Amino acid sequence: MKKLVLAISTIGLLGLAANVQASGQATYQQACFACHGAGVAGAPKTGDKAAWKARIAQGNDTLYKHAIEGYKGDKGFMPAKGGRADLKDADVKAAVDYMVAESK
Ligand code: HEC
Repeated sequence: MKKLVLAISTIGLLGLAANVQASGQATYQQACFACHGAGVAGAPKTGDKAAWKARIAQGNDTLYKHAIEGYKGDKGFMPAKGGRADLKDADVKAAVDYMVAESK
């Protein structure tokens, strides 16, 4: 019985981990891709290592802050949460993690 409970909770945890990852990508596709997919309006294109190098070097906390609160940079204007005020901070962070992982 104990083993069964253990097995079930392990599967549950694995499912949770998979969901967290999927949500970063899903959020990115819904809320960030419009600009970051093709590099619209000065947005650093996802996968463009040169465009991301100096940004990644700022550290995740700065990237999260800029993505969640929005900011005006040299290239253009990043709207808070990509203009999707309904997103949770954690979703935006997961989307940043996804973009950074794709752009290293
Ligand atoms: C309306 C277009 C637009 C959308 C939608 C958008 N961004 Fe951006 N984003 C920008 C622009 C433009 C910049 C670059 C601003 C600059 O540095 O001048 C930027 C920069 C960034 C940066 C780099 C911040 C830094 O400090 O260098 C991150 C991280 C980021 N966006 C995350 C996101 C995430 C996550 C989403 C989706 C939730 C998103 N963006 C949606 C336009 C957009």
